[in-house]
Amino acid sequence: MNKDMLLWDETIFKNDEVLEPDHIPEYFAHRGTQLQALMYSMRPAMRGMRPINCLLIGPPGTGKTTAVLKVFEDMEGHTNNIVFVKVNCQMDSTRFAVISRIYKKLFDVSPPSSGVSFRKLFEKVTEFLVESGKILVVALDDINYLFYEGHADEILYSLLRAHEQSPGAKIGVIAIVSDTGKIYLFDPKVSSVFLPEEIDCPRYNYGELQDIISNRIKHAFFQNVVSDEVRDKIVDYVDRTGDLRVGVNLLKRSGLNAERRASRIISIEDVEKAYEASRLMHLCRSIKSLTPDERTLLRLVAKGKNVQTGELYRSFHEITKLGYTRFYDMVNKLNTIQFVDANFSGKGMRGRTRIIKPRYETQDILKCLE
Ligand SMILES: Nc1ncnc2c1ncn2[C@@H]1O[C@H](COP(=O)(O)OP(=O)(O)OP(=O)(O)O)[C@@H](O)[C@H]1O
Ligand SMILES: [Mg+2]
Repeated sequence: MNKDMLLWDETIFKNDEVLEPDHIPEYFAHRGTQLQALMYSMRPAMRGMRPINCLLIGPPGTGKTTAVLKVFEDMEGHTNNIVFVKVNCQMDSTRFAVISRIYKKLFDVSPPSSGVSFRKLFEKVTEFLVESGKILVVALDDINYLFYEGHADEILYSLLRAHEQSPGAKIGVIAIVSDTGKIYLFDPKVSSVFLPEEIDCPRYNYGELQDIISNRIKHAFFQNVVSDEVRDKIVDYVDRTGDLRVGVNLLKRSGLNAERRASRIISIEDVEKAYEASRLMHLCRSIKSLTPDERTLLRLVAKGKNVQTGELYRSFHEITKLGYTRFYDMVNKLNTIQFVDANFSGKGMRGRTRIIKPRYETQDILKCLE
């Protein structure tokens, strides 16, 4: 029998838990500046003061969510006067959903899903804060999903002005924006109360990616399962987008591919095969969160490659029967969440025609839409 063969009850994974998407790594390097800025902003809450609000910005998979969870974890160990809540805005995308999430954390039960207003729940939350003297810190993760319909402004506005209705209620907000450059402007009404400390999470460079991935490999696999050559192949792939989420998924899939061949060693081919699937992971997950009409629109853009709004609207209307306003909102949403590029055409063209381009390969979008 070949000693390189994996027996049926053996595994190459020393600890597969560390390759799960929600795992919080013990080793969280290259984010010292960001962690410190977050800590510094939250520290007043330790002394009963309102914390400094933060705005954490960076491209996908650059450790934004992890940084905030690390700080929450750390501070929870030192005080029980602060309540930390992380809201996933991709899932909880309305003011009501956000306050329900906060309510659940504070009272340990979900509020009724109907028959009770936002205002009522909000009152209960602020009442609790005033009476208990506790401070609430809310991290609005992936808040960019709420930009397009004004939900983000609405939520921030309510949270940040809570003390006007309920004097003594202390709430701090950490807004996390997954964005590759463009800074979203909040409504002026919000900007005047939301003066956040801006914290950048830039893309990791090659050396940093290599370091982080090496460490994850060490925890996830037994020794000698991943050679340096294979590791660097993985780093090369991750370096194409800088999205570490893809990197962690790639490790898991590569390992599973090796086990499927009953091999004790991950090969370059295992990685190549895994990359096809991992590469699309991020895109597909985001596309799943779109409404059917938004998916229809995205499909038209992907197929059209470079379409003018007028033409796009005609095709869209033919299929969905929806009017121009809805169409226009959806184009803006797809633009904000970076699926399409919707630029006004240059000088010389008449009116305010826009050219809509997909930001991903047509075939990748269509595959995720299947
Ligand atoms: N500095 C780091 N050290 C170790 N692991 C990291 C580091 N940064 C990110 N990761 C890992 O990369 C993955 C993605 O990180 P995270 O979810 O925090 O990114 P994000 O910036 O919130 O991404 P998105 O914008 O897509 O939400 C996670 O598995 C996380 O453990
Ligand atoms: Mg995140």
